[in-house]
Amino acid sequence: MKRRLVAVALCSLGLVHGAGCGADTGGDAGSGGAATSGSAGGGCDDGSVGAGLIAPTCGPCAPCEQGMSCKAGSDCASGSCVDGVCCASACEGSCVACSKAKTGAADGTCASVKSGTDPDAECEASPAATCGASGEGCNGDAALPGCRLHASGTECAPPTCIDGVALVASRCDGEGTCDAALPQPCTPTICDPVGPWCLASCASSADCMATHWCEEGACVARAAQGTSCSSEDECATGHCADGVCCDSACDGGCEACAMTAGALSDGSCTVLPKGAPGAPSCAPYVCAGNFGTCPIFCQSSGDCASPAVCVGSSCVVPKANGASCKTSLECTSGNCIDGTCCNSSCGGACMACDVKGALGTCAFVPALTDPDAECVGHCNGAGACAGPTYAADLQPLFASKCGPCHTTFKSGGTNFAAVYSDSLLTSLTCAGLDVAACTVVRLQNGSMPKNKGCTGNPNLDAANLDCFTEVNYAELAAWLSAGRPK
Ligand code: HEC
Repeated sequence: MKRRLVAVALCSLGLVHGAGCGADTGGDAGSGGAATSGSAGGGCDDGSVGAGLIAPTCGPCAPCEQGMSCKAGSDCASGSCVDGVCCASACEGSCVACSKAKTGAADGTCASVKSGTDPDAECEASPAATCGASGEGCNGDAALPGCRLHASGTECAPPTCIDGVALVASRCDGEGTCDAALPQPCTPTICDPVGPWCLASCASSADCMATHWCEEGACVARAAQGTSCSSEDECATGHCADGVCCDSACDGGCEACAMTAGALSDGSCTVLPKGAPGAPSCAPYVCAGNFGTCPIFCQSSGDCASPAVCVGSSCVVPKANGASCKTSLECTSGNCIDGTCCNSSCGGACMACDVKGALGTCAFVPALTDPDAECVGHCNGAGACAGPTYAADLQPLFASKCGPCHTTFKSGGTNFAAVYSDSLLTSLTCAGLDVAACTVVRLQNGSMPKNKGCTGNPNLDAANLDCFTEVNYAELAAWLSAGRPK
């Protein structure tokens, strides 16, 4: 009421302000009340009657002073009507205002909006990733008015670890910028598969960069070709042969990767020359010179590692006397006799190299035997033939081919195949002959051995084991002509 009276008083002095200027709105931003009172008091009216127009009672209205209420810039001496008051400036930008209600400063002074408030809805929250407005209103900063920003330290980008490069989280600087973290290569480890960070140590070489391997928990650079090594893991080439990092697996018996093993240079897999023993040894073969692997056959003894020799197509180490053999080449002595490597060529009848108890030594065949059928009769046990005699030669022969009829049943009245004296009996069927002589007759006419299908011709009977052979006939004839020795 007092203010209106003042305005009315001014009006009466012809100094009325336009557009219902409230002389001092006192924080009451609305100009309506003042305009109404101005109108009621007969002063310059609101915007519909602007400055310079003739008021009904006061004459021309003067423009409103800074801080007085207004409706349009034309109401104000400054030309700027901001926040309902005449403002000293256009007061553009965010978080600035001209009313005391918004700024706390005097009406008409363009100033920073009160900290933490956002009367003009200018500071909507933006995502942390932008480091922009935090949504907590204006900053109240007189020098640099603006929205409150995401605080310094706010995470604006998450930590990552990609392809062996780790990035810690990026953080806002509090002034609207996201400070990117510096990339940190994991070298020589790699990203931890369970988190966005680098592995601190390794459990296997898979935890290291490809150029490194895991040695006792630490990734260590792989060694160059030709460098000494104890595992292929250590080598850049992925191969460790002969104790050096090698350009290939180089694992054949006739390949070497170290100069000490015969390679041309350390680290270069080299095929060993013909005749090389191989490593590990190719014995009983030697390297062929054209392949990295040990040979598996030979063409001559030159393909074999001494003392091995080529037998057939196999290298074999010659055997000592007494060992079994097939050819003389296999034997150190050069003599394969009776399937046994022998101390001599062991010629002559009734000598053998496989005599029990004397294997590998040329020895007398035991008496009464003839394992190689060298005698008409049998060996005498002193390196010569003897007989034939009934006991040593004929009795066993008769027993095998004429028994049991003539060993047990006294067939035809005789057991001549078991009893020597029976062979001397007078024959019942061969007139004028004894039984022994009669056997030749009965054999040759095919009547004995009885019912065995023999023809008496050893050539025709060759396949029938029951029949006498040519050798059997010869033995029988020799015994008879010698007078049937007992
Ligand atoms: C299956 C039984 C049987 C067998 C095997 C047999 N015999 Fe006889 N052997 C007889 C009988 C039975 C007689 C008497 C009948 C006859 O003389 O045909 C006989 C008679 C003989 C006689 C005549 C004796 C005499 O006093 O004249 C002679 C010799 C003889 N056998 C020789 C042989 C000889 C050699 C063999 C073997 C190569 C042989 N037998 C095998 C059954 C056999």
